[in-house]
Amino acid sequence: MKYNALKGIHDIFPPDIYRWQHIEKVATDVFSLFGFQEIRAPIIESTDVFIRSIGETTDIVEKEMYTFNDKAGRRITLRPEGTAPVVRCYVENHLYNLPSPQKFFYSGPMFRYERPQSGRFRQFFQIGAEAFGVAEPKIDAEILSMLKLLFERLGLQELRFQINSIGCEQCRPGYRKALVSFFSDKIEGLCPDCNRRYEQNPLRILDCKVDSCKTVRQGAPRVTDFLCSDCQDHFNALLSFLALLDIPHVINPDMVRGLDYYTRTTFEVTCEHLGAQNAVAAGGRYDRLVQEFGGPPTPAIGFAIGMERLASLLKVSGGQDIPAPGVFIAVLGEAAGEQGLSLVNGLRSKGIWAEIGYTGNSLKSQMRRADRLSAEYVLIIGDEEIASGRCKWKRLADSSQGEISFSEVHNFFQ
Ligand code: HAM
Repeated sequence: MKYNALKGIHDIFPPDIYRWQHIEKVATDVFSLFGFQEIRAPIIESTDVFIRSIGETTDIVEKEMYTFNDKAGRRITLRPEGTAPVVRCYVENHLYNLPSPQKFFYSGPMFRYERPQSGRFRQFFQIGAEAFGVAEPKIDAEILSMLKLLFERLGLQELRFQINSIGCEQCRPGYRKALVSFFSDKIEGLCPDCNRRYEQNPLRILDCKVDSCKTVRQGAPRVTDFLCSDCQDHFNALLSFLALLDIPHVINPDMVRGLDYYTRTTFEVTCEHLGAQNAVAAGGRYDRLVQEFGGPPTPAIGFAIGMERLASLLKVSGGQDIPAPGVFIAVLGEAAGEQGLSLVNGLRSKGIWAEIGYTGNSLKSQMRRADRLSAEYVLIIGDEEIASGRCKWKRLADSSQGEISFSEVHNFFQ
């Protein structure tokens, strides 16, 4: 029987894993500079957590969730994103009682039953960050500058920061009315889902992926023309902070995010090298969600980065060093095997990555392995070396070589 990973789900293994680890390390470092602390929320939640937050009429909830009944008949969903679980955790654990702002980051797998294609998977990883308790647009700018610094530290260029404001509960009704009026004579051109959305949540028509809906919505009213004065002020202040912090951006009034919880600021970071699925990170404000989940009114903002997409950009931009052993000990014969084992053990306990050859393998194949691993130094031990208590060392990069006694090995390699 031959087993394959499920469609749209991938293994991540060396050498790619080093790029992932590098991203995680740089992200943790950068997030710490901004005071974000790690949070680990569960991978499964009650289905309601996602319906309530992402929205009943979104593509994610309507079509993409991995939902099942557990043995007690509870509706459970594999998280399609990380914001709702973090908000659930924040409210359930009364983290709002701690001094504001509370700032968290997370990473891990998310699950969406989407049609797999390049850059779009059914299991994908996100690194995300969420900040609770600040309504001021200053924190919107800080979040964007954190993303900018992260991408800079990863050596990525040609990224586009797209910014929008989608208003609040004050301005939304006016915009909704304008959308309903715009689509009222175009309903036949909309897909069956959008016919329903027209009644329930017309904003979602702007996010539909069906081609005919994309055509029909051309020329639809733009949310930025309907912002109330508070939202307009917030947006203007954000734009001035972005100028102050030197964060190049474009305003994209057509960008509506595919999740219902957003208010005011929304953004996406895109890169044309990614092809059709060009958003490497996305996020925005969700000032009402904590309250929806039963907490006190708490403004919040966050983002998530798509790891696969980010890792693929790193590949394009030159990649990442692959770690290599400091020492490889090739051994010929049983006594050499024992001596080698004791030496690698000592080196490892000193914090040096050391590898040993296995006596069943010829010297040639052991050397090939040392080469493939890009070991810095190779030691060769055979019967002669055992007899003399000394062995040869060779530095593979420049072919320099010398000789040392076994007792010197631990101090020779620092
Ligand atoms: P999202 O736009 O659904 O937002 O996803 C964020 C990022 O995750 C995308 O820009 C993309 O890079 C990656 N992504 C999404 N779906 C897939 C997929 N099927 N395959 C590969 N990568 C994917 C959210 O998830 C929000 N929770 C972001 C947020 C945090 N907003 C506020 N806080």
